[in-house]
Amino acid sequence: MKKPELIVALDVGSGKEAIQLVELLKNEVDIFKVGGQLFSIEGPHIIRDIQARGKRVFLDLKFHDIPNTVSYSTMGAIVSTSSTTINFTTQFPPKNPSLDIPGLFMFTVHTQGGEGMLKAAVEASRKTAKKLNIVPPLVVGVTVLTSENEPNVINTVLTKAKLAKKSGLDGVVVSVQEVRAIRDELGDEFVIVTPGIRPLGESAGDQKRIATPAEAIAAGSNYLVVGRPIVQATNPYKAAKEILKEMES
Ligand code: C5P
Repeated sequence: MKKPELIVALDVGSGKEAIQLVELLKNEVDIFKVGGQLFSIEGPHIIRDIQARGKRVFLDLKFHDIPNTVSYSTMGAIVSTSSTTINFTTQFPPKNPSLDIPGLFMFTVHTQGGEGMLKAAVEASRKTAKKLNIVPPLVVGVTVLTSENEPNVINTVLTKAKLAKKSGLDGVVVSVQEVRAIRDELGDEFVIVTPGIRPLGESAGDQKRIATPAEAIAAGSNYLVVGRPIVQATNPYKAAKEILKEMES
C-alpha cells in the first residue's frame, strides 16, 4: 500500500483565502480538497489556480442525480479544470485542447445514486480523460456522511462500498471506524478516504464518527481529509505539521 497522504479541505469563504492557505502549506501538503462551499463561490477557476501551483485537487461535489446529468457533470468538471488557457464559455467541450495543467486528481459521487449513476460517472470520467489525453481522476463514492451516526452504520457503509467497487469506482469515502472492515472485504488496492479526522483535544464540530490521525493510519486509510482543525487554526501551518508528524509516527 502507498504511504497515506493528508488532504486539506479548503472549506473557506473566498478564493483569496484558499490560495493563501495553499501558499502557506504547499511545501508540506500536496492535495487540496475543493468542496461545495468554495466551488459555489469561485467556480472551476479556483481549481485551475491550485493546480497551476503544482498541487493536486480533490473535487468534492458529491454528484447525486440521474445518470445522464451525472455523466455531463463529470465531463464538465474534468474539462473545466484541466486547462488555464481554454475559454470554456466559447468552446465547450474544447476541440483540440492544449493542456498546461494536470486534470483533477480525484472527485466524489454519492453511492446513494445507485449502480447506473455510479457506472455513468466512471464511464464519463474515463472517456473524457482519454479525449483530453490526461490521467483519469480517481472516482470515489461517498457512503454515509461522517456527520451521521445511524445504528448499524457499518453494514450500510459496507453494502455501499461493495456497490461502489462493483460499479467500477476506485474507492470510497468512509469514517475511520469502517476502514478495517472495508479493507478486509475489498482489498488493499481499493482507495479509502477518511474525513472526520480530529487530533486529540480538537472540537468535533458537526462530525460524529471521528478518529485521530494515528487511528486513521493504523486502520489503513489512504487519504486523511482534514478541514477545520487546520483551516480554522490560529496557525494552520503548525496544525498541519503536527498532524503530519502524528501520521509519520
Ligand atoms: O472540517 P472537517 O475536518 O470536519 O472537514 C471534513 C471535510 O470532509 C468537509 O469538507 C466535508 O464536506 C467532507 N466530507 C465529510 N464526510 C464525508 C464526505 C466529505 O466530512 N462523508
